[in-house]
Amino acid sequence: MKVVLAYSGGLDTSVAIRWLAEHYDAEVITVTVDVGEVKDYEAIREKALRIGAAEAFLIDAKDEFASEFITPCLKANAIYEDGYPLATAMARPLIAKKVVEVAHEVGADAVAHGATGKGNDQVRFEVTFRALDPSLKIIAPAREWGMSREEEIEYAKERGIPIPVGIESPYSIDQNLWGRSIECGKLEDPAQEPPEEVFEWTAPLDRMPDEPQYIKVEFEQGVPVSIDGERMSLVRLISSLNDIAGRHGVGRVDMIENRLVGIKSREVYEAPAAITLITAHRALEALTIERDLIHFKRSLELKYAELVYYGLWYHPLREALDAFMDHTQRTVTGAVRLKLFKGSCMVVGRESPFSLYRYELATYDRADQFDHRASEGFIKIFGLPTAITRSVLRQLQE
Ligand code: ARG
Repeated sequence: MKVVLAYSGGLDTSVAIRWLAEHYDAEVITVTVDVGEVKDYEAIREKALRIGAAEAFLIDAKDEFASEFITPCLKANAIYEDGYPLATAMARPLIAKKVVEVAHEVGADAVAHGATGKGNDQVRFEVTFRALDPSLKIIAPAREWGMSREEEIEYAKERGIPIPVGIESPYSIDQNLWGRSIECGKLEDPAQEPPEEVFEWTAPLDRMPDEPQYIKVEFEQGVPVSIDGERMSLVRLISSLNDIAGRHGVGRVDMIENRLVGIKSREVYEAPAAITLITAHRALEALTIERDLIHFKRSLELKYAELVYYGLWYHPLREALDAFMDHTQRTVTGAVRLKLFKGSCMVVGRESPFSLYRYELATYDRADQFDHRASEGFIKIFGLPTAITRSVLRQLQE
């Protein structure tokens, strides 16, 4: 049997290479997908071969991740439960898609992933596998083997599987262009503040600059295209914002999150670029999108984030919502000025050729052209249903 395994280079997927060979007598082919912000992917590929993979693929999917996954999520301002910008959630369907592509290329019978039986990632991988090719068998070694972390380390040691450096770190970490997540260890007590050691992308208070930094982000139809006038690829733009905003401590999130499998878990995130870009994007939408449209869009954004979190990237509702979101972005072009300072990211200016702001309507000075007298009749009619209903309800009290 030929199995294509989504390989991150961490302990679980490293052990999985050998375990699949032993338990399924499988020829294991690994696929490592570069979705950004992890340094040495070539070393990960070589490690897979050393452990015993028959072939090891390394796929640079950074541009695709930025244009096909991050972009639609940013247009939808997708944030799960008011805190999580969905970095892991949006990368899983892309990784799964690459795994299926390789499975077709090498003629594999099965696909595998290293996610455990109590998280969201298993759902995201497997829903995508089934959506893209229901004929592939799915194997989830970490759900089957029933080993504790200590037993896994023991299993690895016995077989000479290199144990990742820093494995004594009690934290489980996942990261890509859109953010970094930290789970486990001391974080499992939700009453306790996260220890400073869990943060890598965001500066602690005593290392943040003492001067605010202003940056200007320009968007074209909802997509960020430049920082301070310098045009760059989306991948570079996001990566530089992770640095710039991270230096000011922007993008830390500490939340209790509802997993799809029904567990509440304590999650800590660092997402400097994601938080900065969503903040800026919302501000530009506020200037350029009509009132009822933006109110309605905000309600759909919640649904969008939920679909992505639940691993339903290939669900028809996500695609239909994308069509709606895209339509709303036609005028979301312009610039937003942000002030980064001591952990905060404040919008301090916005402009657009499609701005719906009218000075002569908004102003309180002499240039005012709003027809104040028209308001009188407007309010009478606008408040009519309320007035009639109230007068009827008063009868109840008599
Ligand atoms: N709670 C987040 C999510 O469900 C982060 C998951 C991190 N995954 C991981 N394998 N460490 O998307």
